Amino acid sequence: MNPTCTTSSNNMAGAFITFEGIDGCGKSTQLRLLASELRVRGITVVTTREPGGTPLGQRLRAALLDVQEQVDPLAELLVFAADRAQHVRKHLRPSLAANQVVLSDRYADATVAYQGAGRGFAPELIQEIVQLATEGLRPDLTLLFDLSVAESAVRTRRRIESKRTDRLDIEDAEFHTRVRNGYVEIAKAEPARIKVIDARGSVQETHLAVMDIVMPFLEDRGLLGAEQSAKSKAPRGKRESSAN
Ligand code: TMP
Repeated sequence: MNPTCTTSSNNMAGAFITFEGIDGCGKSTQLRLLASELRVRGITVVTTREPGGTPLGQRLRAALLDVQEQVDPLAELLVFAADRAQHVRKHLRPSLAANQVVLSDRYADATVAYQGAGRGFAPELIQEIVQLATEGLRPDLTLLFDLSVAESAVRTRRRIESKRTDRLDIEDAEFHTRVRNGYVEIAKAEPARIKVIDARGSVQETHLAVMDIVMPFLEDRGLLGAEQSAKSKAPRGKRESSAN
């Protein structure tokens, strides 16, 4: 399959990092941890998400994920695309142009995995809609948190029991298996952009794996100060103790 989009944010000043994975993989927790770690290190970070990264997007998110709503699959695909079109133009591009490090909880790969692999829409249609919505803006780095469907189900079950669930959380295991396989395929097609992280470990273990990828990446892009650059080159143990 072709890359999700055709142009990366490389021609813009900031850095665009996306977090992906099946429901319950822990990506949102990892995004929060990374954002606070980067802020402690003096790096300005914008956190956002899809769906729901703009005021319009928040309203679309509420409608899309409402467990009571009967959403036609084509309508679902198009509303995710509408959310993304607004997000790219009103929030992502302006933030990147202002030299921000942008961390987004999901982006276009989610449409390839959920609506493409999960719902079964043709790859060509998905690519066309993704291209339209993103204007070719693609992430510089994507962290894919990989977890089996059985393990993710244990985590989402807690959300379901506490009623903090959404319409896609409660899809069956076959759907989530197709989505996971879809993500794995995307990662195979774009190994330079997409880094797969084993999400079975503890929150802290996964966080260390995230830092091991993100700090050298930010350094390569010249987004770390001299002191942070030195830390990003230090072995993990030294780096962590010097950060405390
Ligand atoms: P979240 O729970 O990670 O915030 O994501 C909300 C749900 O929306 C999740 O089940 C994945 C789904 N989703 C899609 O199906 N397609 C998309 O393009 C996006 C961004 C999310």
